[in-house]
Amino acid sequence: MTSVGIDAFEIWTGNLVLDLPNTFAPAQGEDPEKYTKGLGLNASSFPDSYEDIVTMGANAAHRLMERKGLTPEDIGRIDVATESSFDKSKPISTYVAGCLEQVYEGDFHHANKGERKFACIAGTQCLDDAYNWIRAGRSRGRAALVIATDTALYERDDPGEATQGAGAVAMLIDEDPNLVELSAEQGYGSADETDFLKPQQQFPSVDGKRSMQVYLARMREALEDYESVAGASHPDDFAYVPFHTPFPGMVRKAAVLAYRHTIRDTPIEADLAEEIGRQPRREDFDDKAGYDEAIRGYVDDLKATERYQTWYETTIEPTLTISREVGNWYTGSVHLARASALIHAAETDRDLAGSALGVGSYGSGAQAEVHAELVADGWHEEIEAVSDHLDDQLAERYDLTFTEYEAVHDAHNHDKDVETAELTTPSREFVFDGWGRMGERKYRYVE
Ligand code: COA
Repeated sequence: MTSVGIDAFEIWTGNLVLDLPNTFAPAQGEDPEKYTKGLGLNASSFPDSYEDIVTMGANAAHRLMERKGLTPEDIGRIDVATESSFDKSKPISTYVAGCLEQVYEGDFHHANKGERKFACIAGTQCLDDAYNWIRAGRSRGRAALVIATDTALYERDDPGEATQGAGAVAMLIDEDPNLVELSAEQGYGSADETDFLKPQQQFPSVDGKRSMQVYLARMREALEDYESVAGASHPDDFAYVPFHTPFPGMVRKAAVLAYRHTIRDTPIEADLAEEIGRQPRREDFDDKAGYDEAIRGYVDDLKATERYQTWYETTIEPTLTISREVGNWYTGSVHLARASALIHAAETDRDLAGSALGVGSYGSGAQAEVHAELVADGWHEEIEAVSDHLDDQLAERYDLTFTEYEAVHDAHNHDKDVETAELTTPSREFVFDGWGRMGERKYRYVE
């Protein structure tokens, strides 16, 4: 059977950066270590006043097409995943295609376009859709363009303001991919939850603590569902485990639970038993509360073991590098975690071809998905091309003062009518260019 997966990708960050420990924390009267140690974040990428989900998505897609030498005729499908959409009818993919048609001779008239919404998991759902479309034999030899783009902004003084971010990841899904092959096996954990939502509003209503609990519960369900089709997982199955990363501290919590789950009844659990005992078993407890307390104690002890810490340092920590510098990109976050892992492998000369990644995606509302990816032979060349440019982009972001941050946050607030001067000068990128006669947002390419 032909393999299908991610052939190539590009990342586009917002052009501004908010330094969390040094600029944001002091202005909020908070300890900088809440960010660096607690949440695990150094900075948030932020969009300048001429940037939005369309410009960032189109810029990432344009760079991807240029690097791969593609023309519109090579693309049979454009799916955009976002939870920051500004149009309830016309999909963001049409705006993106309109941008790209300004710089290419051909057009995307024969490409199927859509927009996927399920909070942060929608980017992974778009990958699934593209995979299914190609495997169903409907692609006519063309590739799919999947774009995860978000401005993850919160109301001022909402606790979520600590975890903001803005950027896009554009991925090319094709047969015989250069980067990773997607597995046919998937596991889902999905339930009607009220942890994060935007009913008719721009900024989210968030129950942050609840969203963390829901993330863990749905992820566990998804892992169990995945194991029901792929067989029991073992921590050594995966070279890296990229999780959805709203902030690295969330992944710290998810990783230890996943590790506990996957070592149960394995020699690892037996080895660790001498140090911290066996895992509590439900049948040994009269009530759930007693069992839950015992599990919490076991997890605390497990986290402190050298064995767990070595696994975490090798398998999880490298997935968090980009997230620490850009914050939450919602639909793009799990794809940044994959990118971080592969960049780490290239930098440390790991021979990754043929190794597996265990990918844990999550979207509030809520749904988790677990699937495996097999690293393809061309991964190294591909990741080097991405990483050179990413380093430059991150370094070139304009460092916001707190006053500038307040102004540019207001510029992105749809309830406020403010004009804010651009802080950066766009160059060779798409920019927002004002409003059209039907209230549509317009865009132009700046040389
Ligand atoms: N030094 C070290 N750690 C510190 C610290 C300090 N000075 N101050 C706080 N911390 C730690 C806290 O102990 C906590 O870690 P823990 O959860 O392991 O206990 C972490 O930093 C965050 O601090 P907290 O006081 O809980 O932050 P908060 O009340 O501002 O809320 C979120 C944090 C994540 C709930 C909030 O940012 C949010 O709502 N985010 C959006 C929703 C989201 O991302 N949900 C995730 C699932 S998708």
